[in-house]
Amino acid sequence: MFVADRLAHAEPGVGLDVASGEGRNSLWLAARGWKMTAVDFSEVAIERGRAVSDEVDFVVADVLQWEPEERYDLALIAYLHLPGENMRQAIERVASWLRPGGELFLIGHDESNIDQGHGGPQSPEILTRVEDTVEWLDDLEIVEAQVVRRPVETDEGRVYARDALIRARRPE
Ligand SMILES: C[S@@+](CC[C@H](N)C(=O)[O-])C[C@H]1O[C@@H](n2cnc3c(N)ncnc32)[C@H](O)[C@@H]1O
Repeated sequence: MFVADRLAHAEPGVGLDVASGEGRNSLWLAARGWKMTAVDFSEVAIERGRAVSDEVDFVVADVLQWEPEERYDLALIAYLHLPGENMRQAIERVASWLRPGGELFLIGHDESNIDQGHGGPQSPEILTRVEDTVEWLDDLEIVEAQVVRRPVETDEGRVYARDALIRARRPE
């Protein structure tokens, strides 16, 4: 929902969806004119994405090892949760693949979701911390960095999960 909210009116360009799963965000962006590559190390997820659309370039790869040939206007990391050092590596690698003016868009379960939110992973060491993530992006300009509430409908009514949303741009 945050991708749609923030990027519905963005000028389409060349985009990368890291840890894309079946590519729901890539498919949404491709439908809006983006030329998308979706990367995930799950062959099952990537095959499912390919079965839905040939508009997205689906790639099976580990983000900690893969080297793209392209540079990107947008690099999306949605709900990728790795232990701290691996997450830092992944984020720094992805940030280095941005074109000047390109945006890193990261959304993940915030660490405060365990006590104050709903659902999601319950291991603090893999949850997102806004301040740490911002520190890892010190050569980018921060566009937005905050904890956001995501509505979740349950049998008991609507509750709110807490996500970390960080958007950062490579200077021109
Ligand atoms: C919770 S899913 C999120 C999928 C998608 N981004 C979304 O928001 O719907 C996390 C995904 O990260 C992928 N993943 C985890 N570690 C990865 C890695 N090192 N390289 C590539 N994909 C990875 C998993 O296979 C899984 O599809």
